[in-house]
Amino acid sequence: MKVKGSAPGKLMLFGEHAVIYNYPCIVTTVSPRIYVEAEITPGQFNIDAPQVKNVRFVEETVKLFSKKYNVDNKLLIKTYSDFSSQYGFGSSSAVTVATIYALSKIYKIKLSKREIFDLGYKVILNIQGVGSGFDIAAAIFGGTLYFVIGGKVIEPLSVKELSLVIGYSGVKADTTKIVKNLEFRIHNSELEYRKIFEKIGRIVEEAKISLVNGDWEKSGELMNQNHQLLQELGVSTEKLNRMCLTAIESGAYGAKLSGAGGGDCMIALVSKDKKEDVESSIVDAGGEIINVKINV
Ligand code: MEV
Repeated sequence: MKVKGSAPGKLMLFGEHAVIYNYPCIVTTVSPRIYVEAEITPGQFNIDAPQVKNVRFVEETVKLFSKKYNVDNKLLIKTYSDFSSQYGFGSSSAVTVATIYALSKIYKIKLSKREIFDLGYKVILNIQGVGSGFDIAAAIFGGTLYFVIGGKVIEPLSVKELSLVIGYSGVKADTTKIVKNLEFRIHNSELEYRKIFEKIGRIVEEAKISLVNGDWEKSGELMNQNHQLLQELGVSTEKLNRMCLTAIESGAYGAKLSGAGGGDCMIALVSKDKKEDVESSIVDAGGEIINVKINV
């Protein structure tokens, strides 16, 4: 018997990095998904994953799942993906959640969303050593979420017609390295960073309201402020800054990097009539437009 599980990728809207230090963030999902197929096999445990990075997450998920629920792990697991891990859409968390779904189906173990979150978050921490778990929550709950580290708060937000342009900077970011580097710098000047995180925390609270109200002008302005603070944290790059600036100059409500920084993607909040202009300005700045549905 073959079973399938799948989970979507994510995009951070507001609050990256500060979320690691106990401030809230807002995350949304993207339409590309990762699929995991599992089959009980008489032979050896085997994983067939085109994205090598995902193998470790699948292995750790199977290990923790079989230990916790006392099942054997004689499985053949295959993963398929709608998206490449290079964009920073959270392929590790999506493959982790999709694997938990597939395992719970094959062993007929009914799990609550909370149990799936706790197991998935443990996998992420065991492998990466750092992370807030926002990406695991997005993969499980879908849509747009207000989130606090470790799933202390996971609150779905009713956001309609969020119109974003996503620009890939062409550089793959190493999230763990960037988070650890920031942690190192914080040790040396704690207070300065605290102030930045507090400001980001306030932006997230305001964005929670403006997004639900469909107040795109306000949401865009908050994105710009959030990006400015991420620059102050030292996690942005010249390319990301250029892409954000050109998006704003071409009529976006606002723009910011999304995720850890150091590369990956930026996002721009746009009205329908400005979308094309914003997209071509990002391409002119050397970015690649990623066409996906969001808030799915
Ligand atoms: C990375 O996409 C977002 C960070 O806040 C890390 C995390 O929350 O796990 C930098």
